[in-house]
Amino acid sequence: MATAPKAKAVREDLLRVEGLTKIYDGAVKAVDNISLTVTTGEIFALLGGSGCGKSTLLRMLAGFETPTQGKIYLAGEDITHLPPYKRPINMMFQSYALFPHLSVWENIAFGLKRDGMPKNDINDRVESLLGLVQLTKLAKRKPHQLSGGQQQRVALARSLAKRPQLLLLDEPLGALDKKLRESTQLELVNIIEEVGVTCVLVTHDQEEAMTMASRIAVMSEGSFMQVGSPDEVYEMPNSRHVADFIGNVNIFDGVVEVDEPDHVTVRCEECVHYVGHGISGNTGMSVSVALRPEKILLSKNKPQGEFNKGKPQGEFNWCEGEVIEIVYFGAHTTYHLKLASGLVIKAQELNSTRDLSCGLTWGDRAYAHWSDLAMVVLTQ
Ligand SMILES: Nc1ncnc2c1ncn2[C@@H]1O[C@H](COP(=O)(O)OP(=O)(O)O)[C@@H](O)[C@H]1O
Ligand SMILES: [Mg+2]
Repeated sequence: MATAPKAKAVREDLLRVEGLTKIYDGAVKAVDNISLTVTTGEIFALLGGSGCGKSTLLRMLAGFETPTQGKIYLAGEDITHLPPYKRPINMMFQSYALFPHLSVWENIAFGLKRDGMPKNDINDRVESLLGLVQLTKLAKRKPHQLSGGQQQRVALARSLAKRPQLLLLDEPLGALDKKLRESTQLELVNIIEEVGVTCVLVTHDQEEAMTMASRIAVMSEGSFMQVGSPDEVYEMPNSRHVADFIGNVNIFDGVVEVDEPDHVTVRCEECVHYVGHGISGNTGMSVSVALRPEKILLSKNKPQGEFNKGKPQGEFNWCEGEVIEIVYFGAHTTYHLKLASGLVIKAQELNSTRDLSCGLTWGDRAYAHWSDLAMVVLTQ
């Protein structure tokens, strides 16, 4: 399949935010001293639970909300106090806000007409946007004659009509059902990349952030907990909060017993973790060990220390429990294992080959084991 060449040659900082804070009514600190830089062409996701300040941050970027403190720069220019209509920024809202009495064509053309753009230029611009979002054939329809996904694409075309430098999307797929969301996520990314517009996206859905964004900021209570690429925040979460928020995770609490530059051990009630890399911590420190369900292997028999090469046989990285729940997801199965301590851990098995299945069933005793590099030690 032929793809359009992408304008990726020059990567410079487009958006820079410094110490941005918003306090509502002198009391609610919705955004707390946030700094961030977004590079030209990036899709940057703000990810967090409801009320953590995502929309407030986005509205300050758009100019709909005045910061209590801090600065916003776009392409080096201080736009902190510029009114929304003077910013080369467009914001697409969750509820699309299409004009119900206008056709698809007129909805997209609306802002251009208002700006007094010459008629021929408007025609060219709208036609090319219709092509981009694949709605050329539906140009004459009214919004109520479109599906949710099609309405979403009209809203996107309209947001792009004035060729903003920065596109802000607040829960752009919130109104779509799960299946449509998934296909639309990739469609949206393709369109954004084709146009080459830089994008800040707000979502509470971690899969959406992982699918769409080049970088993700995980937010909590108005602050960034961690900023990184999707695989960084998934594989190397920097805190319990991030590990918990992104995907499924098992958390063990314990104490650092051995602290060497190339490995550490963490003694927990359930087992002793041998971690094949150093951490920034010290002996005796209380830590949490995060272990993703898909990194755990299950077996009926006691593991023969295959993950303990060169170390005392069978001492590390396994535990025993009872299978108390089996959840079949089609592509994978999740087993819930209750350990002697009472902790229930989840282990995921891919259903790619049925004969490789661990063959466990409800009530079985089972062993879980994992490699030296499967876990992350969290010090906060
Ligand atoms: N206009 C407002 N006036 C007062 N408080 C607000 C206003 N808008 C949002 N808040 C509060 O600020 C916090 C962050 O809200 P918001 O930015 O909408 O979060 P999110 O988009 O992450 O759900 C919440 O506690 C919310 O109640
Ligand atoms: Mg919101």
